[in-house]
Amino acid sequence: MEIVLTGEGGPEMLRVGTGDAPRPGKGQVRVRVEASGVSFAEVQMLRRRYPMQPSFPFVPGYDLVGTVTEVGPGVSGPRVGERVAALTRTGAWRTHVVVPAATAVPVPASLDPGVAAAVVMNGVTAWQMVHQVAKVRAGQTVLVHGATGGVGTLLVQIAVRAGARVLGTASPAKHDLLRSLGAEPIDYRTGDVPAAVRALSPGGVAAVFDHLGGRSLDDSYALLADGGVLISYGSAATLRDEGHWLTPYLGTIRRYAGWQLARLVGRSRGRRAAFYYVKPGPRFTEALTEVFTLVESGTLNPPIAQRLPLENAAEALRLLVEGKTTGKIVLEA
Ligand SMILES: NC(=O)c1ccc[n+]([C@@H]2O[C@H](COP(=O)([O-])OP(=O)(O)OC[C@H]3O[C@@H](n4cnc5c(N)ncnc54)[C@H](OP(=O)(O)O)[C@@H]3O)[C@@H](O)[C@H]2O)c1
Repeated sequence: MEIVLTGEGGPEMLRVGTGDAPRPGKGQVRVRVEASGVSFAEVQMLRRRYPMQPSFPFVPGYDLVGTVTEVGPGVSGPRVGERVAALTRTGAWRTHVVVPAATAVPVPASLDPGVAAAVVMNGVTAWQMVHQVAKVRAGQTVLVHGATGGVGTLLVQIAVRAGARVLGTASPAKHDLLRSLGAEPIDYRTGDVPAAVRALSPGGVAAVFDHLGGRSLDDSYALLADGGVLISYGSAATLRDEGHWLTPYLGTIRRYAGWQLARLVGRSRGRRAAFYYVKPGPRFTEALTEVFTLVESGTLNPPIAQRLPLENAAEALRLLVEGKTTGKIVLEA
């Protein structure tokens, strides 16, 4: 079985199909998928607004956890029967998937596949942004936008564990959850976010994690303390824009060029702006292995919004589009 995204529109554009993965080729393994993630990327793909997405029809699914059922020639590991995780970008919403063996990351046996799937893309994204891009240190104050989302809930937990004071934006109904994760909530729906951040941290913040893009980047950069870093890792605010998907990114590049120029001429007060984009490879494997260890030890708890059967992918996407969920939606095969 596979879930096919047949064209631009709403979740009704998803169809359940009968296709399946081929035999693994050289250097590949075939995986029986146990759980795969539902992410904002698929919401953007539905609207044909995800950077360089395949043309319709295609099988979405950004990440997966499953068991290796067959290995191709030249594969020294993983072995048949081992549980692995992989970042596929598309194609994970199938019962069987073929992935390069080199990108398959071992999953500890004690981890529930659904819980493990909740941290494949999101956990690595959050962990790398906190530790490798922002390099958050104890005592710093940071701002997390969308702090109750799939990535946001992990960003908050990882930054709190690093010893930071975390301010998080979320809709009011989710503020209690945010407090329980250790963050101070800010209402982005009715409130003035920059004013609220300044009231809580008058000297600015050491890092802003911004998944919104567009004009939010100007506010985020202006909220940085001297030496602070803005990390842009999404363009959620431009989902409903008309025109080419590239247009909002051109706006971001223009802003970044201005900030870089200010740095070069010594007028940035040490502030910098970075992009983040998750990708498979040795650094991904290393980060995911660390994230799995944190989840296993109970240090990191990915909230699971819903677990739904793979054939209910359209319902899963509808829940995400409506913004009624908190944490990660997982499809189980
Ligand atoms: N660059 C990368 O490598 C990478 C990797 C993973 C994800 N991402 C990006 O990360 C973003 C989040 O993904 P996700 O899967 O975590 O999505 P998600 O679970 O849908 O979470 C999105 C969150 O954004 C919040 N939100 C919506 N409008 C907002 C606003 N104006 N101000 C502040 N918060 C707002 C929502 O809060 P409420 O529910 O409270 O309304 C929701 O919690 C997406 O843009 C995605 O593309 C990027």
